[in-house]
Amino acid sequence: MSLSPVLARIDADITAATDRLLDLLRIPSISTDPAYKDACQTAADWLVADLQSIGFDASKRPTPGHPMVVAHYDGPGPHVVFYGHYDVQPVDPIDLWDRDPFDPAIEDTAKGKVIRGRGSSDDKGQLMTFIEACRAWQAEHGTLPCKITIFFEGEEESGSPSLIPFMKENAEELTGDVALICDTGLFGESTPAIVTMLRGLLGEEITITGPSKDLHSGMYGGPAMNPIRVLAEMISRLHDDQGRVTVPDFYDGVPELPDDIARQWRDLGFDAGDFLGEVGLSTPAGEVDRTALEMIWSRPTCEVNGIWGGYTGKGFKTVLPSKAHAKISFRLVGQQDPHKIRENLRAYLTAMLPPDCQIEFSGHGASPASQMEIDHPAFEQARHALSDEWPNAAAYVGCGGSIPIAGYFKTYLGMDAMLIGFGKDDDQIHSPNEKYDLSSFHKGTRSWARILDALSKDA
Ligand code: BES
Ligand code: ZN
Repeated sequence: MSLSPVLARIDADITAATDRLLDLLRIPSISTDPAYKDACQTAADWLVADLQSIGFDASKRPTPGHPMVVAHYDGPGPHVVFYGHYDVQPVDPIDLWDRDPFDPAIEDTAKGKVIRGRGSSDDKGQLMTFIEACRAWQAEHGTLPCKITIFFEGEEESGSPSLIPFMKENAEELTGDVALICDTGLFGESTPAIVTMLRGLLGEEITITGPSKDLHSGMYGGPAMNPIRVLAEMISRLHDDQGRVTVPDFYDGVPELPDDIARQWRDLGFDAGDFLGEVGLSTPAGEVDRTALEMIWSRPTCEVNGIWGGYTGKGFKTVLPSKAHAKISFRLVGQQDPHKIRENLRAYLTAMLPPDCQIEFSGHGASPASQMEIDHPAFEQARHALSDEWPNAAAYVGCGGSIPIAGYFKTYLGMDAMLIGFGKDDDQIHSPNEKYDLSSFHKGTRSWARILDALSKDA
């Protein structure tokens, strides 16, 4: 079966493909907010119907949370398992969007056409690149070049609570020769990337309680301990003056970067100034003795993602609040053990509590870092296929984000996973005005068509 008519078909079909993506983007499948539970069902139904229309045996599978979508196509050759997620992040702060996040559109920008809307890049646009590649193979040849299982999750953005049990229960169905994950980015404008290292994630929500009720800050301020002050003190003590995290034993299991990888990364020519400049910054924060790329790809970090308490509305209120809250997350690398770190963090913060205050914790996800085995022949086949599509050859890179399933494929199903995606740093994922370049969508689709072709030659 030849590849070139498939690529031509993708080119000819790009407008219809974009319209299909816009349809999917209109469904507000925010997984973390229970108000959008029905929308998550609708998105799963939409995907099932679309996959059925191109010959997959597709179904929506219930979980205690949002459903999974599983689809099979019994083609020849190697069995690839493709993963993406149909859930999206919340849209707030909504007033910073230039359009309704769920009324997506194609916009002309100085850098070319973009698809604007929540989920366009993370991850609906990306998962549709794979579906569109399959559609073009089907349309042109009446079949697909390999045996394919598609697995879409609806809880990735909220810590994947149903994922491990689902993978264990459906292990046989979800296991193939290699997993393909489309939820990462390019390295710069014209360089495709295969991610070989992914950081883990540990989330923790903290509530400090001081007085039993909100108080007048003039009547009680002074003698009554303010929980916001306690929380601020705790947060300020999570890093030392060298930018290192101070939780006891936090760096256990953090490896030094091997020389060959350090060299490879240096050769990528990453410009920290440009990277920070794009977001209005100029001076790297973080560990003083590390490069920006190391800090993102191979060093663990601690970030406060949210902090609230007291009066935050318009005007002013002289309140001494009863409670203060924060959401804190840690990116993990190497062999760092998320459960041990959670335990150490809780003990560390509890020991800082002044008299009369209480602390409560609630955990949000705990996934270790994962390292891909690039010895599997699929890696070089995919690298060549990508290099044929893009101006520059594909690079092996790290990734600062976390995609828990990458490690689970190995741990629970014994499969290697290849992380290939077409997002860009300026896609504003998780932020207002998220977009996906039309070129990412189009060339991403062409890339998958080429990768499927390359993998099928392995049979
Ligand atoms: N697509 C991202 C992961 C990612 C981030 C890839 C940045 C490339 C660059 C994924 O959807 C994501 O956001 N993951 C969350 C995981 C979490 C909510 C459990 C993350 O990394 O914060
Ligand atoms: Zn995301």
